[in-house]
Amino acid sequence: MRHLLGIDELDADQIGEILERADYYSRALRDGKWDHNHLADKIIFHLFFEHSTRTLTSFEVAAKRLGARVVNWNPQTSSLSKGENFTDTIDTLCAMHPDGIVMRHADYGAPNFVAARSTCPVINGGDSWREHPTQALLDAMTMKEHFGKIEGLNVTIVGDIAHSRVAGSNMQLLCKMGAHVRVVAPPVLMPEELPFKEIEAHENLADGIKGADVVMTLRLQKERMDSALISSDAAYYNEFGLTLEILDKHAKGAMVMDPGPLVRGVQMEDSLAEDKSRSLILKQVANGIPTRMAVLDLVLGG
Ligand code: NCD
Repeated sequence: MRHLLGIDELDADQIGEILERADYYSRALRDGKWDHNHLADKIIFHLFFEHSTRTLTSFEVAAKRLGARVVNWNPQTSSLSKGENFTDTIDTLCAMHPDGIVMRHADYGAPNFVAARSTCPVINGGDSWREHPTQALLDAMTMKEHFGKIEGLNVTIVGDIAHSRVAGSNMQLLCKMGAHVRVVAPPVLMPEELPFKEIEAHENLADGIKGADVVMTLRLQKERMDSALISSDAAYYNEFGLTLEILDKHAKGAMVMDPGPLVRGVQMEDSLAEDKSRSLILKQVANGIPTRMAVLDLVLGG
């Protein structure tokens, strides 16, 4: 793999290969046995133009577990604040010859733009509302770990489908791996087109989650909405907030997932998010490390 820019560029075999490598690193982390110096000669630039807790930190942990060194560049303290433009900033950073770049940006296709200019591999850590491939990969790893498979799983994604890059990457990955995918959102948060014709769209939570194995909730991506599309968080929660009662009535035994950040009182009830027998949320976070070790290994370790 030269870069990892999106799930759109991967086929089922390539996704399967990354998941196998992630599973290898997951077992290796448990046993304490892997090559701690695998990427010891590599310097990786983290170019995060948008805030992050999980993605940025777990990329750094993954890189360090493999012996790489990381430069966490900060846009707020960079020369962008002195009027340097994005392209010149990227060319400047690339002239220092990093071995890899992990980046997140609010503009559509920014990682692809950087990949076309750079001489090193670029990994997309979140591209606008378009793609967040490592999130979809760690979500898939989490489902595979829990259910033993992805093929045939009934997965419902609830929330801001239109503005969520997590939805963008997950819909593609899950369809490519043979899961049955449904999306639930109010019409204002549903995209005009879905990436695969097999994906069922619902406006009603109960209909959309019926018989689901996994219900994945998503945050309202208010920073990407031109105006307030939802009258209030409370109004959204009333119609689309996931509760144990609704889950048990329509999808008994389903597990809940959320890529985070979880906004309390909006996506799901607190007790459901905290219930370790129903929530895979912290497993998703933990699986971010082996998944990103796998991606760094496949992209930089060859
Ligand atoms: C997501 C993101 O930034 O795309 N978070 C994450 O990476 N785990 C989801 C979000 O911001 O809602």
